[in-house]
Amino acid sequence: MIRINENYLKLQASYLFSDIAKRVAAYQQANPEMTLIKLGIGDVTRALPDACIKALHQAVDEMASDSSFRGYGPEQGYEFLREAIAREDFQARGANIDADEIFVSDGAKCDSGNFQEIFSTDIRVAIPDPVYPVYVDTNVMAGRSGQAQEGRYQGLVYLEGKRDNGFIPELPGEPVDLIYLCFPNNPTGVTASRSQLKQWVDYARENRSLILFDAAYEAFIKDPELPHSIYEIDGAREVAVEFRSFSKTAGFTGTRCAYTVVPKDCMAYTKTGDSVTVHSLWNRRHTTKFNSVSYPVQRAAEAVYSSAGKIQVQELIAYYLNNASFIRQGMESLGYDCIGGENSPYIWIDGKGDSWSFFDRLLSQAGVVCTPGAGFGKCGEGYIRISAFNSFENVQEAMARIGRAL
Ligand code: MLT
Repeated sequence: MIRINENYLKLQASYLFSDIAKRVAAYQQANPEMTLIKLGIGDVTRALPDACIKALHQAVDEMASDSSFRGYGPEQGYEFLREAIAREDFQARGANIDADEIFVSDGAKCDSGNFQEIFSTDIRVAIPDPVYPVYVDTNVMAGRSGQAQEGRYQGLVYLEGKRDNGFIPELPGEPVDLIYLCFPNNPTGVTASRSQLKQWVDYARENRSLILFDAAYEAFIKDPELPHSIYEIDGAREVAVEFRSFSKTAGFTGTRCAYTVVPKDCMAYTKTGDSVTVHSLWNRRHTTKFNSVSYPVQRAAEAVYSSAGKIQVQELIAYYLNNASFIRQGMESLGYDCIGGENSPYIWIDGKGDSWSFFDRLLSQAGVVCTPGAGFGKCGEGYIRISAFNSFENVQEAMARIGRAL
């Protein structure tokens, strides 16, 4: 008899964004005349930078001739891309990361979801709340939690983000082994300072824990004082893995390219306390289960680091940040407390009540799709997240409609 992984039965609802998509589709079917404006899932809307398109075309042409055709590439990614990433995203910021510590992949969602596989199922996992649901759900699937009770899975350590701590959780009160952090944060849009990150790095070094640091939104950081990478913090090479993505940075949500940094100094331990490099485990997992990203897409990602690509990416980021600032000002002028939207494409808004009701109200009265904060965890209740990924015209229209509806 084929049996299921019963951990899947513990999962609460369907994946948050599938749930929202279903509700939106049902609403649209019942109200076909309504033109919806989607500021829910953080999906980019602007075309790929011209430098990436040119690189894509050229790489496709290479595939058209036997002499330049490429079959399987290295699972970890082509050297040309790994070198560019290490140089431009890390070494240029004083972070000591080598090309062979970069693993190119098809998404930070997959990497941040898959990474837990290389650790024991009985480790203690600390996860912020509110949080990108992938970190929680993948640990539940792996069997690291008990049943859900009142919106929380037993056995997981929740790191609460609230208005009083500026949605930056404090260190856990008990020892934990694996810690998820995300800055600029999804969903709240808050960022962490060097000293805040330093506390986490010190904690991880003292407790022999590992930090999984999701930096998918780092390109939105404008404040020069803020760190872009956890490797800008001393000691992080020993205790942190970092996830990055070209999705939000350069418009690759449909094109798919991301990467994970696994420094060779990061250690994990056997039951008897012997150390093993996390790099060797992830390399084994990655080479076994993944065939990397297609050659043309890696060439397009490499073009992000060309001089033209850098300018075009900056323009994209500035465009979405301008939307974010417009949304934040609009919501504040309607009397709502907001955070985020300054070094992040997300604005986190205190909706002064039940977050799914607020979501429904914006959908039915304004035709605007947002994301209810409760979908990101118990501490998200009462909030909604609005994403800045859309055209400025749509953002203006959405804010005008929201103004009338509220
Ligand atoms: C989000 O809206 O939180 C993200 O777009 C989801 C993702 O990147 O997977």
